[in-house]
Amino acid sequence: MISDLPATDSPTSAFARDVLAGLSATPRTLPAKYFYDERGSRLFDAITRLDAYYPTRTERQILLDDGDAMVDAIGKNAALVEYGSGSSDKTRILLDALHARRTLAAYVPIDISETFLLETAAGLREAYPGLPVLPVAADYTKPFDLPDLPEETSRIVVFFPGSTIGNFSLDETATFLAHVAEQIGDDGALLVGMDQWKDADVLRLAYDDPEGVTADFNLNLLRRINAELDGDADLDAWAHAVRLDPDARRVEMHLRSLRDQTLTVLGHPFAFAAGETIHTENSHKYGPDGLGALAEAAGLVRQQRWTDARGWFAVELYAADGAGSR
Ligand code: AVJ
Repeated sequence: MISDLPATDSPTSAFARDVLAGLSATPRTLPAKYFYDERGSRLFDAITRLDAYYPTRTERQILLDDGDAMVDAIGKNAALVEYGSGSSDKTRILLDALHARRTLAAYVPIDISETFLLETAAGLREAYPGLPVLPVAADYTKPFDLPDLPEETSRIVVFFPGSTIGNFSLDETATFLAHVAEQIGDDGALLVGMDQWKDADVLRLAYDDPEGVTADFNLNLLRRINAELDGDADLDAWAHAVRLDPDARRVEMHLRSLRDQTLTVLGHPFAFAAGETIHTENSHKYGPDGLGALAEAAGLVRQQRWTDARGWFAVELYAADGAGSR
């Protein structure tokens, strides 16, 4: 069905391929990474400011409270490599702590959007005079090369905040951690933020806010499909739906068809029955054992764990298994 697609590697054709493949699958899915076009990024930003959406402000508070302890754990002359840096907003809290003590060898923001990345880098150079800011435009879910790091660099520390790791499937997390382990080597570390499993009502509200911003964010995928892939989705015929899976410890977002209908994308018709859903996002939550067996399989061990008073979010530091004993 998808054989007549453009064979190029342009972003649009990757989007087209993934959408057609996801809508052809059973159950139907769409990759969460496509939420973030310009409108979607703005909506996510609005989500982070909602009363109901606690993860962003909770992680921020942990960084503010425990940033100094993190700086101690990171040590002198580390190169801080941030995966999916975006506006580097949260990172500034950590950079403030690191730069105040002049302990950072370099900051390496990695982001897929080059324009945004270069803009952010310019702002950071201004805010942190003397700190080498070495941006890399890359998709961090695939292997990529780091830039040449300053000679005094003692170790590589990957920073992956925001519970973005929760969006990965367990397989993707395993692959991701293997890549990280390879990139940081024997002396490096991973500093990762992860949301925690908690009371179902709190979780549900965070993903189904009364203001409807998350619904808008979810429905934005259909808007994107209409605009970029000649889709004919009637946005009034789809609803935002949230499901909790306590066994898998994850929150799922779906788009639910409100009636029998056909969604046509790039000329391909997809029939939906009333009530049928498209699974658009997994948001995995973690517990006190952190990344557990997944980290172990990648040869990583947890060294520290910082959390808020309610235990709603955690920032954890991992290093290579056997580091320091070599
Ligand atoms: C950016 C992946 C951490 O899963 O909480 C927010 C995205 N989805 N509301 C999350 C999201 C719905 C968010 N992450």
